[in-house]
Amino acid sequence: MMGTCSISDSTMRSKRALLPSLLTLVVFVLAACRTSTAAQSLPDEAPCKIALLLPETKTARYETQDLPNFKNRLKELGFDNQYLIYSNANQDAATQQQQAEAALTNRANVLVLDPVDSDAAAKIADLAKSKNVPVIAYDRLIKGSAGVTYYISFDNEQVGKLQGSALVIALAGQVHPTIVMINGSPTDNNAILFKRGAHSVLDDKVIIAKEYDTPDWSPDKAQREMEQALTTLNNQVDGVYAANDGTAGGAIAAMKAAGIQPLPPVTGQDAELAAIQRILAGEQYMTVYKAIKPEANAAAELAYALCRGEPPDESKLNGQIDNGKTRVPSILLAPISVTKHNLMQTVVADQFWSVDQICTADFKSFCDAAGIQ
Ligand code: BGC
Repeated sequence: MMGTCSISDSTMRSKRALLPSLLTLVVFVLAACRTSTAAQSLPDEAPCKIALLLPETKTARYETQDLPNFKNRLKELGFDNQYLIYSNANQDAATQQQQAEAALTNRANVLVLDPVDSDAAAKIADLAKSKNVPVIAYDRLIKGSAGVTYYISFDNEQVGKLQGSALVIALAGQVHPTIVMINGSPTDNNAILFKRGAHSVLDDKVIIAKEYDTPDWSPDKAQREMEQALTTLNNQVDGVYAANDGTAGGAIAAMKAAGIQPLPPVTGQDAELAAIQRILAGEQYMTVYKAIKPEANAAAELAYALCRGEPPDESKLNGQIDNGKTRVPSILLAPISVTKHNLMQTVVADQFWSVDQICTADFKSFCDAAGIQ
């Protein structure tokens, strides 16, 4: 590079008459040299880019847990988060497809994708593969593509089993209890696994009088499903299987509006703050706590290494999941069932929520009664 920036002596001597303009030229060339030297060092310093594509905003975890934890871990690793391309698809698969295409056009070096639609997202992973961009399926599996490099999630069938088992315990002593099942979005592979796990426990122990798959995991749609079930069942419901805390909130709102008192046991998932408070107030029976920090951290660590073209630390991998096209090396974390009785030892001990966050003025008396201080 230096060679292209030098001016020969002979040229200087023979063109004395042109000295002023040559001096101008020298200044110009030197300035250009400096610029080009700076530009030359860019490829080494050029940052890699990570794209995080999350599925929706109605469920609290994505914006309040997944995104901040992912960013924090990247920052700890030395990544400058201005090179993080973040998008949330608001439960729209077509929007997510566009967001992923935009991230690839924007030269993302790795995609961390929590798909709205586990099947449709194969197109995204195939496109990424064609551009040699690795894809981490985050929380939800991407099915039917060989372009999925890693999968990080929880044991989702176990989530359903924990929910089903808790409901069975809550209904112990009742003869042929009648329940309503409010499952998650049929396009989410996790929802299919939660449902399978729950059925494996519930089927021979309770009467499932009504069952719904809830499009988009929408709490409003869950509320309408529960209203419809109550009308059909003449308000005779002994328990509700709700696949997550958002749908549990919808079902509980419908039962309160119908004047059902006391409320029957209702399951949930995500350990959302509102759900923890409902558990203390006796409106929801349980939730499933999935520690999002280790999940987001593991994704950030793999993404950071892949982004920089370094060999990822694979020591946390603990399985391989078949997505219909390939066996995807996976990290599957363990979910924990939470009721009033182990709240302190789980979500509080883990600093997922603090006692101050849970025991606000409206819930103070419930906290005192449960010994949560
Ligand atoms: C996640 C849950 C979440 C649900 C709705 C599932 O795939 O695992 O934690 O509540 O989607 O967003």
